[in-house]
Amino acid sequence: MAMENFKHFLVVLSVAAAAGLVSIIFVLRWVLHFREGLAWDGGPAEFNWHPVLMVIGFIFLQGTAIIVYRIPWTWHRSKLMMKFIHAGLNLLAFILAVISMVAVFDFHNAAKIPNMYSLHSWVGLAAVILYGLQLVLGVGMYLMPFTPASWRAAFMPLHVYGGLFLFTSVIAVALMGITEKLIFSLSDPKYKDSPPEAIFVNVLGLLLVVFGALILWIATRKSWKRPSEQILHTLHTDGGVEDSSKVGPALSQLSDVPNEETCGDVRKRSCKLDDQPNLLVNN
Ligand code: HEM
Ligand code: HEM
Repeated sequence: MAMENFKHFLVVLSVAAAAGLVSIIFVLRWVLHFREGLAWDGGPAEFNWHPVLMVIGFIFLQGTAIIVYRIPWTWHRSKLMMKFIHAGLNLLAFILAVISMVAVFDFHNAAKIPNMYSLHSWVGLAAVILYGLQLVLGVGMYLMPFTPASWRAAFMPLHVYGGLFLFTSVIAVALMGITEKLIFSLSDPKYKDSPPEAIFVNVLGLLLVVFGALILWIATRKSWKRPSEQILHTLHTDGGVEDSSKVGPALSQLSDVPNEETCGDVRKRSCKLDDQPNLLVNN
């Protein structure tokens, strides 16, 4: 990555990390300071695990998983190791999302509140189910050694689109959930009277939007992609890649070399340029 590019990357990454971490602090302060705290007792404090685990797991960890391949100081690590980190973070996000769902179902059942009536719950459950599918397909495609390279390449555009679509949907679901909760729980003064809790939690929603926007920006910059294994190998054998700035020139020289997952080992002519997510083209 060229130096200028690297600086831009660092700025966007730092603001994204700050927005994500402050969101976590905000959701914790919401439930601990403004609401009933956290407990596993069938009451409102059990419900509170729902937003906390969704923000930490389904939003923050999923966002982190999506951009791990983009972090230049991991480029000298093996692709396999990065796949394990990407898959592991996504698995953890999924587990926390499932626990978060158990919390809200449990709370509803104990309080005799109906399940699955809201748009929030419909889109939310669909997102959790499709996320589970994306996880299983991801492992099958990219961690099973026997999966043909041509399948991996053919599936990659769908994997990337599916991942970004799910991530965006989850942010939208969180905004719906936040709005519902504020309308349900603020009574005197009401949500429309803008009490401090309402303002505070509106800011949480804004932070989630900023985090989502920046993760999507990072994940859609072609010039911030991890260089192909072939380029990294060349750099290794030319004296190491400790200095990741060396990747920059190599990257732009070999701008039409597809990545490992994209076209497999054989550089096939059928490997079309415009639908490959892993091409090393600068934009
Ligand atoms: C309920 C999913 C985030 C507030 C639910 C239900 C699901 C769900 C499936 C239905 C549970 C049931 O019917 O028993 C999700 C997903 C989220 C998310 C996938 C990912 C971000 C949030 C957040 C809040 C929230 C951040 C903020 C407080 C609520 C509320 C309910 C609920 C108040 C109960 C009312 C209802 O069923 O709509 N959520 N949720 N959710 N969620 Fe979320
Ligand atoms: C890339 C999402 C699970 C392997 C991506 C990208 C996204 C994504 C958005 C594009 C990242 C970029 O362009 O830098 C997800 C989501 C998952 C998931 C939401 C879980 C629900 C998995 C699993 C594997 C996997 C389990 C297995 C190892 C890959 C690979 C890439 C990738 C190999 C290409 C990286 C590259 O060459 O730049 N994933 N993924 N994913 N994912 Fe996943």
